[in-house]
Amino acid sequence: MFRTHTCIDLDKSDINKKVTLSGWVNKRRDHGSMIFIDLRDRYGITQIVFDPEISSLAHEVAKTLRNEWVISIQGEVVKRETINKNLKTGEIEISATQIQILSKSKPSPFPIFEDKTETNEELRLKYRYLDIRRKPILDKIKIRHQAMLETRIFFSEHGFLEINTPILGKSTPEGARDYLVPSRIYPGNFYALPQSPQIFKQLLMIGGIDRYFQIAPCFRDEDLRADRQPEFTQIDVEMSFDGKEKLFELVENHLKRVFKKCLDVDIKTPFEKMSHSQSLEKYGTDKPDLRFAMEFQRLDEIAKKSTFSIFLDILKSKGCIKAINVKGGSDLSRKKLDDLSSFVKSFGLKGLSFIKKTDSSLSSSLLKFFTPELLTEIEKKLNMEDGDLVIIAADKDEIVNQGLDHLRRKIAQDRSLIKKGIYKFLWVEDFPLFEYSEDEKRLKAMHHPFTAPSTKDLEILEKEPLKVRADAYDLVLNGYEIAGGSQRIYDSELQSKIFKLLKLTDEDIKQKFGFFIDALKYGTPPHGGIAYGFDRLIMILTDTDNIRDVIAFPKTLKSLDLMLQSPSVVDKDQLKELEIQTKEIDEIPW
Ligand code: AMO
Repeated sequence: MFRTHTCIDLDKSDINKKVTLSGWVNKRRDHGSMIFIDLRDRYGITQIVFDPEISSLAHEVAKTLRNEWVISIQGEVVKRETINKNLKTGEIEISATQIQILSKSKPSPFPIFEDKTETNEELRLKYRYLDIRRKPILDKIKIRHQAMLETRIFFSEHGFLEINTPILGKSTPEGARDYLVPSRIYPGNFYALPQSPQIFKQLLMIGGIDRYFQIAPCFRDEDLRADRQPEFTQIDVEMSFDGKEKLFELVENHLKRVFKKCLDVDIKTPFEKMSHSQSLEKYGTDKPDLRFAMEFQRLDEIAKKSTFSIFLDILKSKGCIKAINVKGGSDLSRKKLDDLSSFVKSFGLKGLSFIKKTDSSLSSSLLKFFTPELLTEIEKKLNMEDGDLVIIAADKDEIVNQGLDHLRRKIAQDRSLIKKGIYKFLWVEDFPLFEYSEDEKRLKAMHHPFTAPSTKDLEILEKEPLKVRADAYDLVLNGYEIAGGSQRIYDSELQSKIFKLLKLTDEDIKQKFGFFIDALKYGTPPHGGIAYGFDRLIMILTDTDNIRDVIAFPKTLKSLDLMLQSPSVVDKDQLKELEIQTKEIDEIPW
């Protein structure tokens, strides 16, 4: 037997017990006559003491131990002289009578026992199995497990069936690039890995499974970011006959359970709601972080009456002028303000204007262009008080929104406006059904082509498609889009109409979604659903802004697995079997 207890189990109620523990040497301290080992497993740490007077043999072996060796010890639980309050087992130690070295370790390429690490992430990813031994990563893996478990319990308790859908499938409609898998049996034919189980979950509704969920692997070949992986996990949900409000309530209750069980945090429900257009107007983005204020205020009407030609020209060419108030920001130096102006340049804004208020008076290079009355209007609109700094941006709507959104978030970071442990949920609703693709000169589905148009806008579907709102929603948490979904079209005629508006040819429709259009004709219930980005939810639960921290074996921003050294060149024979020829081979510099 390698262990009677784990390294977290024992406390002073166990004193005098004879025990066996196994684990990794976290640290060794040699005090000459006595040797102390911190023995670690995934549960915790227990101190082992080797006293030559108890066992000179064990003491001799302990002298040779190095960090990360795997050992098994036998001994007696004894009271510790100096209590370590930081450890759950800190009141006891094991006085070792025997030791066995189970496995030696090469010196670890980075320290395992320290929570903080200076080691670069690439090295940690190359040796991910060692990184997983580190507490910060291990703790995230544990929370991920707990959230997954609570999810399965919650949805099962609410009558949902978890159903696995295929991984080898066909292109799905989320609009990213597919990962393709060649077929050996039918050379020249490919499976596509699912970007989501979207079509399958709708087919399950047609199949009469009125409540489905799945913790589903998804694959998208797209440019990566700190919150995006090529291979990620969704909590995928679909339900029939219940409608959006029921779904919202369900999601809110699910998250309530997850936050309570994983963090012991009570979240407030129902969540706030905002329309997509309102969100863009107030925060310049469809995923606003509501943990801090600095809402945008539109100054078009006031600026129109000024003599500032830059603003007037922008308004003439249908641009806009928006401002934010940085409370207490009047202390920012000229240099800091210049830095902010340079910062927004990368988002297309040519510059920023500033107005400061101190000792009840304003200072700004803009003052000469605005009458005192107009300036009072600005003060009122932005609720300016002494010590405040108003920042103004003017350009096309999209550019102002993008620039000010990034600026708002940067200022919140720089000025430490974001408090830990605050969770601000927001439903964003009423997305446009379509967006116009300049590149392809056609309408594209903003969410995906199975999303139902809002019934309020059905009349203008063909006349003014860009004005049609969708019965679609995102759930935003602390500035992250953590879920997205919609109510679906369940009428095959409306579905065909939408495909036509998307300029899909009959041939395209038949080839891509023929089976699906056909399925819709066999009695489809009204249905809708949502998919959560599970990894993003875990990022927030574990307070990290790096998605790789919450995935056991993640890929880098360049889609590489540094440990497996994948993707990799394959055997010529394998390619031959698949009847695939490669023209060029890109050598990956591992
Ligand atoms: P959508 O494409 O919005 O919707 O995806 C749902 C959620 O998945 C997460 N997500 C990602 N997370 C990590 N890495 C990625 N590359 C990535 N891409 C998306 C986001 C997002 O909100 N089938 C629809 C859902 C539905 O309509 O029910 C879908 O996949 O958190």
